[in-house]
Amino acid sequence: MCGIVGYIGKAQAPKVLINGLRRLEYRGYDSAGLAVMDGNQLAVAKAPGKVAALKDRAHAEWPEERFSRASTGIAHTRWATHGPPTEVNAHPHLDQSGDIALVHNGIIENYRALRARLESKGHQFLSETDTEVLAHLIGECNKGDLFQAVCDALHQVEGTFGIAVLSAREPGRIITARRGSPIVIGVGDGETIIASDASAIVAHTQRVIYLDDNDIAIVTAESVDIRDLNNVPVTREIAELGMDASAAEKGGYDHFMLKEIHEQPDSLGNAIRGRLDLNLGTSVLAGMGTSARELADLNRVVIVGCGTSLHAGLVGEYAFEDLADVNAEVQQAAEFRYRNPIVGSRDLVVAISQSGETADTLAAVREAKQKGAFVMSLCNVVGSTIARETGRGVYLHAGPEISVASTKAFTCQVAVLLMMALKIGRGRRFSRDEGLKLARDIEAIPTLVAKVLEQDERIATIAATYVNNEHAFFIGRGPMYPVALEGALKLKEISYIHAEGYHAAELKHGPIALLVEGTPVVALACDIPGKDKVLGNIEECRARGARILGIITEGDHEAAECMDDFIEVPACHPLVATVPAVVALQLFSYHVARLRGCEIDQPRNLAKSVTVE
Ligand code: F6R
Repeated sequence: MCGIVGYIGKAQAPKVLINGLRRLEYRGYDSAGLAVMDGNQLAVAKAPGKVAALKDRAHAEWPEERFSRASTGIAHTRWATHGPPTEVNAHPHLDQSGDIALVHNGIIENYRALRARLESKGHQFLSETDTEVLAHLIGECNKGDLFQAVCDALHQVEGTFGIAVLSAREPGRIITARRGSPIVIGVGDGETIIASDASAIVAHTQRVIYLDDNDIAIVTAESVDIRDLNNVPVTREIAELGMDASAAEKGGYDHFMLKEIHEQPDSLGNAIRGRLDLNLGTSVLAGMGTSARELADLNRVVIVGCGTSLHAGLVGEYAFEDLADVNAEVQQAAEFRYRNPIVGSRDLVVAISQSGETADTLAAVREAKQKGAFVMSLCNVVGSTIARETGRGVYLHAGPEISVASTKAFTCQVAVLLMMALKIGRGRRFSRDEGLKLARDIEAIPTLVAKVLEQDERIATIAATYVNNEHAFFIGRGPMYPVALEGALKLKEISYIHAEGYHAAELKHGPIALLVEGTPVVALACDIPGKDKVLGNIEECRARGARILGIITEGDHEAAECMDDFIEVPACHPLVATVPAVVALQLFSYHVARLRGCEIDQPRNLAKSVTVE
């Protein structure tokens, strides 16, 4: 949510910053801005809208030499929280003197009180943002040492921040700090890049330092000096990113979403490879850091997450109960800490988050730790806050997910949850042979998904039939119920068609009142236990004129006859079938949105990585 880039080195800062912002644009794209040092003066350009608009604005307003001269700067792409996405609310914000520029991710919770105090001292604010208040506060604290001024100001703020600060009076350095909002520093050869996310760094260097909460760094082209807010030096290791720059490119696809959908056989292969033990019929997930005895003694698994990750958790709930013979429940991360959850030392709390930065999921992790539960995470972004705070868990290895709509992270989350259930189940109920059979079913997932992807064109043709509808229902039972929820979420977020996911049995308890001639009902009708009941629910919908698109098992003529349209997925284990089924729905949503002319990778009002509550 919002993206930060900072650069200090030999290259043309405006160019580096704009390229960096482009790579971060998926985190927020309603306005953007940059500030560079031009000689010993700050030059600022801002624009509402996308990074391309900022680039045009800077080229229109700035002399050409500024682009070649400036080698230090900070930049931001915004997802509005305080005030609409206007030019004046865009970052960077300046202090009262105009000498200090600040870009900020996160929320300053006590900004109203700070603003009132600063106004009483004569400060005048131009924007509605909390960030401008912090910029003025830093200016107010500045007695000639920017680093100390930032420390003093940050001592006074409540809330979260990832910041980069530049001062015209100290041109050779950028100050950056974090609390609750990530900052990564790329250590290049004679250049240093600051970013809220490694995808803005990967084109420059693989060597990165992740700041911890309350770290503050003085960054020059040659050095990174990290301290805490009390000016005590701290040591942070340099890590290898291990990320390929091409991962953040579209690679010939029209959209990141389509690329990521098609990457799934590979991403799933990476998530599964080396984690199945086909000798012992179990999985090897060393990162869980739990002994066989602890797993055998588990009382309950509680899964927390938001959005798509929550839906993966719901599939996990079925998997843990069915395969691992352990009570499982899923809780919305946003509710977890406010409902005084009952979890203890024999309960395993699994936090699921692609980004590893989602504020609500992070808060749930902290609450679960407070209560003494066993806490672990399923994150995609290596070194993310949730991954680090849980200290144990399983990385998804899905590769960078740039599309705002999550696809490959979901399928990898499900694959990892199945492997976790296999591991726990093997200690509690499965024989070796049963474990082996399940391990082979999981191993086959990438191939099953590839078979669905082969139908891309056919799915595009089917999608054309549903382009003009404004409402749609998705229904499923058992583990296909969360798939219905996820299918509806995908369709609504990228095509803006109002879509609702329901348990197939729930439709007649109210929502069926909305069915009229031609209303689309997407039915998860794979040949798994409960299929006959879903076919019955489909008949109820057809009787009211609904148009049925079914996801069915390959060759299931009985199911096909109940549908107006159908997409076939290969026959497989009922829990495993959730993965190819969701891939069919991802492609369906993608093509509907494409045919409606939607901005698929940057849907209205959304942003990747929701770091506010
Ligand atoms: C939907 C989507 C969101 C995220 C949610 C949680 O396509 O991407 O619903 O799943 O914001 O994000 P993470 O998984 O990063 O915690």
